[in-house]
Amino acid sequence: MNPVEVAPVPAPDLREPLWLLEEWLREGEPVPDDFIGKVQDSVQAGDVEVLAARLGGRVVGVLVLAFRPNISLGGLFASIEDLYVRPEARHRGVGAALLKAADERCRGRGIYYVEVQVERGGAGAFYAASGYEPEPDVRVFSRSLVIRDRGDEKPEA
Ligand SMILES: CC(C)(COP(=O)(O)OP(=O)(O)OC[C@H]1O[C@@H](n2cnc3c(N)ncnc32)[C@H](O)[C@@H]1OP(=O)(O)O)[C@@H](O)C(=O)NCCC(=O)NCCS
Repeated sequence: MNPVEVAPVPAPDLREPLWLLEEWLREGEPVPDDFIGKVQDSVQAGDVEVLAARLGGRVVGVLVLAFRPNISLGGLFASIEDLYVRPEARHRGVGAALLKAADERCRGRGIYYVEVQVERGGAGAFYAASGYEPEPDVRVFSRSLVIRDRGDEKPEA
């Protein structure tokens, strides 16, 4: 039996799973409280789900799934925004269990297309092991905007 338990996190309980992502992505710096409030609103509205994986009751992995409208599909698709498993819990099927749970959450809503952005040299093999395929003709473009009265934005090129 796989001891990994995965479940969606109710909005009021988001702090603990998000702390894992803060540890990984923000060197432990907490996100602002008003941002947590926005994530809670999105979870309550059903636009976002945060799935937590537990081993022995402890949160060891988290997956953030966003549901977005797409005109060509004429419906919603799902995007994996973040996925993280604590280093000491890796290679025990936790990541795969989170992806499987995400599949089930999508199926439950009739959503059949799930995508994720992966850095070169990153988790591609992990996603491939769970049935994800690279989109050969897609590249991601982005830019950073200057927002006046905020000193933390990157300058425009
Ligand atoms: C990627 C990550 C989520 C995998 O989590 P995990 O719990 O270790 O994954 P699993 O144990 O479920 O692995 C499932 C399969 O994926 C593959 N896999 C997992 N990690 C891999 C790696 N680093 N390289 C290649 N294949 C890998 C293996 O085939 C594995 O099956 P196996 O153990 O039977 O060989 C985890 O390493 C992590 O959090 N990494 C840092 C954050 C990150 O890169 N997130 C993804 C952002 S898009």
